[in-house]
Amino acid sequence: MKRSIVKNASLLGLFALLCTALVALVNQSTFERIKQQQDLELMRTLHQIIPDEIHDNALIEHCILIQDADVLGVDEPLPAYIASQGGEPVAIAMETVAPDGYNGQIKLVVAIDVKGEVLGVRTLNHNETPGLGDKIDLRKSPWVLSFKGQSIQGEQDKRWAVKKDGGQFDQFTGATITPRAYVGAVKRTLRYFNANKQTLLSRPANCEVQYE
Ligand SMILES: Cc1cc2nc3c(=O)[nH]c(=O)nc-3n(C[C@H](O)[C@H](O)[C@H](O)COP(=O)(O)O)c2cc1C
Repeated sequence: MKRSIVKNASLLGLFALLCTALVALVNQSTFERIKQQQDLELMRTLHQIIPDEIHDNALIEHCILIQDADVLGVDEPLPAYIASQGGEPVAIAMETVAPDGYNGQIKLVVAIDVKGEVLGVRTLNHNETPGLGDKIDLRKSPWVLSFKGQSIQGEQDKRWAVKKDGGQFDQFTGATITPRAYVGAVKRTLRYFNANKQTLLSRPANCEVQYE
């Protein structure tokens, strides 16, 4: 009797161990695949907002990490990608976060050229309410395209707000919180770039993106 209990317990233990190993293995392999897919998606997005015609480098090869919680909305460093033509920097795409979305953080990427003009903005990740706050997703609405070509004129550029707050950007029907947070994040990023342009664009690459 005792021997049979020990035998069954050992078998059960072995089985549990094998299952744990299998789950860990699957987890490891899917984690890498998911990361690769995310990086691929990011590269597609970067190509949309920084036109191929204006740069001749591979954006992923000039990735820098920027850490500034007040500007980027999160404590951890976020990547930015520098585009250059003939070795001269021409634009940057900075990842940033609007921490004050309706349902928490909205992750976006803002591409800016050396003159401080927005080349394009795209949402990378968000949890805003479908049908209300999700117009920040280009698949749902062209709203993010309204940033293209914009720049900040002077310290008190009142146009950088939603229309309800006296600015130039549309809010969404019955949903002002999301676009307000979003406009704020793009504005902070643009301001930061304008104030730190030289330092940012001359920084050597210090992060890596997997891409195949
Ligand atoms: C269930 C629910 C989900 C909502 N989701 C959002 C959202 O994702 N984004 C947003 O800006 N407002 C959302 N709202 C509306 C906000 O509570 C708020 O009323 C609105 O942003 C204010 O916009 P308004 O000034 O145009 O009324 C949601 C409201 C409810 C009840």
